[in-house]
Amino acid sequence: MGSVVILNHPLIQHKISILRKEDTGTNEFRSLTEEIAMLMGYEALRDLPVEDVEVKTPIETCMTPMIAGKKMAVVPILRAGLGMVGGLLALVPSAKVGHIGLYRDPVTTEPHEYYCKLPTPIEERTIVVLDPMLATGGSAVAAVDFIKAHGGKKIKFMCIIAAPQGLERLRTSHPDIQIYVGHLDRTLNDHAYIVPGLGDAGDRIFGTK
Ligand code: PRP
Ligand code: URA
Repeated sequence: MGSVVILNHPLIQHKISILRKEDTGTNEFRSLTEEIAMLMGYEALRDLPVEDVEVKTPIETCMTPMIAGKKMAVVPILRAGLGMVGGLLALVPSAKVGHIGLYRDPVTTEPHEYYCKLPTPIEERTIVVLDPMLATGGSAVAAVDFIKAHGGKKIKFMCIIAAPQGLERLRTSHPDIQIYVGHLDRTLNDHAYIVPGLGDAGDRIFGTK
């Protein structure tokens, strides 16, 4: 069943506010993106399946819960989603990592695919799609389309900042997925940038212009 969760935890909100600042440099921007992804991941993964396994403590042997099933898949949307991967891998170091390469045409804002590779068997994994920005929603919808076309079923989408337009488009195009948002912003501007947003996430993570 699909859902939208806005993660209004004070630590997440505080870090997002620093991320937004125009004078936050690349180094700090990268570490904050990773930290926010980890805090969001803690919440987004609370329904991971667990099973009791036998463990021998120094005192006795007991049955105790561990994460069950195939390893999770983390799937960043390139480029900016890469900045969130470390945060998820800090929580689940054994997760597999897929990549979806999409860039948004600056004129039409339509997403264009340039690279895609997913871990197999994708249909058995919990898949966490990462992109700091959900603006028009075109990239997120295309990424989830691609994952589903390859058999992905249990899909979570995690973004740091969303515009209402993108959130609505993703929710209606893929009503079955779980969506986690760090902060829901006001709107999009005429260039389809999120307002107030943080500018171009990819450029700020990688120090390009
Ligand atoms: C940005 C961002 C999202 C997309 C969001 O990527 O990281 O992928 O735009 O916009 P949308 O919701 O309107 O599709 P961009 O295409 O700029 O590529 P980059 O990460 O390589 O900079
Ligand atoms: N992509 C970004 O990086 N920022 C926006 O505000 C919109 C799309």
